[in-house]
Amino acid sequence: MNVGIDKLAFFVPNTFVDMTDLALARDVDPAKFHIGIGQDEMAVNPTTQDIITFATNAAAPLLSEEDKKAIDMVIVGTESSVDESKASAVVVHDLLGIQPFARSIEMKEACYSATAGLALACDHVRLNPDVKVLVIASDIAKYGLNTGGEPTQGAGSVAMVVSANPRILKLNNDNVALTQDIYDFWRPFGQAYPSVDGQFSNATYINAFAQIWEEYERRTSLSFEDFAALAFHTPYTKMGKKALMPMLEKKKPQNADELMVQFENGIVYNRRVGNLYTGSLYLSLISLLENGELAAGNRIGLFSYGSGTVAEFFSGELVEGYEQQLRKVEHQSMLDARKRLNIAEYEVMFEEKLDLNHNKTFDDPTPYSVSEILDNHRLYKK
Ligand code: COA
Repeated sequence: MNVGIDKLAFFVPNTFVDMTDLALARDVDPAKFHIGIGQDEMAVNPTTQDIITFATNAAAPLLSEEDKKAIDMVIVGTESSVDESKASAVVVHDLLGIQPFARSIEMKEACYSATAGLALACDHVRLNPDVKVLVIASDIAKYGLNTGGEPTQGAGSVAMVVSANPRILKLNNDNVALTQDIYDFWRPFGQAYPSVDGQFSNATYINAFAQIWEEYERRTSLSFEDFAALAFHTPYTKMGKKALMPMLEKKKPQNADELMVQFENGIVYNRRVGNLYTGSLYLSLISLLENGELAAGNRIGLFSYGSGTVAEFFSGELVEGYEQQLRKVEHQSMLDARKRLNIAEYEVMFEEKLDLNHNKTFDDPTPYSVSEILDNHRLYKK
């Protein structure tokens, strides 16, 4: 039985910072951000939009009434949780009107956890072919003003419906994962922003891809030449390239140039959004499908990386007619309709926080947003 991604969409908040503006404000050569790091724009969210509203805004346009009856599991992968105890997936389940006899959980392992969610979803559907699973990656990537990580921030969500006989990407159940106990990026309880050793995290990512690729080749006897494209976890768009290029130089596949062309197709949206943490790989997948010219039957490889670290490589094959399931027009319109913030506006928004100790109402016109703080919890507009 074929199992995989049947529907796929992303959502980003409607304000952004242009990386030239940020570079000039920080007294940095803009070429460092645009070329050295590979980012053109960075999504910024108001406090009335959090990982729950990103998730519901991404998923709602995908779900038919039939989907809402068939979904029996909602998984949210995030490292920007709004609660230490209650899973955001429980609220997302309610806001989306999914039938009640469902399992709703939140998963955590830095930028990796949505990949574990996707694997769990596929296993669940293989055992229960009539059900569907909603998997969402939702995060706010914040390193702090004037920090080394500042140009690699972002915010948003990717939603995927996993089902039998998927109409976009059937997944091959060939996952190779790698766990290593490393402190390259971490955020202890109560710390607003992560501790990060940026250069060490680059090195660990590159090394994880190299180790996993060798193991994947050994287990499957596949090579780069069996792939039409590869999509990478993209904390900033140069990162995947830094991992892929040394391996292409080492293995010298005949399709190296084609893989690099497709790599660029896979970062078009990421260049405009920045880091989505858990969602970054899947935003890159959407960018690849909506900007690359791939054919049914093409094999795509996906490399997921979460600091700490867990990394995973797996593959899927495009399904006949997959293009018709994409939301290219909607996605591009959403990106184009965003408001460009000046740096003073961005800095004010960056520092704003929701105070759960004071009741307050809000009026954010976004379809799903925080509408009220009441008695120490967030209420959302449906
Ligand atoms: N023009 C063009 N490129 C320039 C440049 C200029 N004027 N100035 C610098 N660069 C290039 C550098 O050569 C480098 O390229 P390379 O990586 O190919 O060598 C790149 O820009 C980044 O420069 P670097 O000095 O390494 O930047 P940095 O010390 O500010 O750190 C990060 C960059 C990504 C490590 C930092 O933003 C960070 O810590 N981010 C958060 C952690 C993260 O995203 N980790 C990724 C793994 S999950």
